[in-house]
Amino acid sequence: MSRPQKSVAASSVADQVHKVFPNDINSHQTVFGGAIMAHIDRMALVVAERHAGQTCVTASVDALHFLAPAKQGHTLVFSAAVNRSWNSSMEIGARVEAEDSHTGERQHIVSAYLTFIAVDENGKAVAVPELIPETDSEKLRWGEAQLRREQRLRQAEELKRYRCETTGSC
Ligand SMILES: CC(C)(COP(=O)(O)OP(=O)(O)OC[C@H]1O[C@@H](n2cnc3c(N)ncnc32)[C@H](O)[C@@H]1OP(=O)(O)O)[C@@H](O)C(=O)NCCC(=O)NCCS
Repeated sequence: MSRPQKSVAASSVADQVHKVFPNDINSHQTVFGGAIMAHIDRMALVVAERHAGQTCVTASVDALHFLAPAKQGHTLVFSAAVNRSWNSSMEIGARVEAEDSHTGERQHIVSAYLTFIAVDENGKAVAVPELIPETDSEKLRWGEAQLRREQRLRQAEELKRYRCETTGSC
């Protein structure tokens, strides 16, 4: 039976703002990275559950790059969208920018890629709708997501083989 299909726009979150206050700041006077990570995980969860129409759980953070710091007084601007769905899993891409809201100037500070799994009431993985990329950038992210999944699976296999060869525990 074919799966239902959904667009990227049906679940994406764009330009969600968060004003940086002193309690967001670390000892280097920049925004605490863990707070940004928690915000990304919550937002990506909403995107995943909108796409899946089910409860979802975070399975892995496949990449999270801090490209530049944000400072007190900045506005953090969060966006997230489904990049690709497979059977029960989805890759959600998140982007964070730091905005000087006086001038409107923005800097890209974080890119992150997370994998969520849709689960039933027993925590068992269940199928999600197929994602149909429409724009050129959606198609590019859809292709890149497949590369990240293949790399993750390949790396897991390599680590398993290394541990087996090194410790004899297979
Ligand atoms: C995520 C979870 C449901 C997967 O369970 P599982 O028994 O390994 O599921 P399966 O082997 O049937 O795989 C289901 C899907 O999960 C994917 N998956 C499993 N482990 C994964 C991992 N570490 N990273 C990315 N994807 C993963 C599989 O590739 C598969 O995707 P597909 O159906 O699209 O091909 C289970 O590991 C779990 O509940 N983990 C804890 C989640 C959690 O507590 N998160 C933090 C709070 S939300």
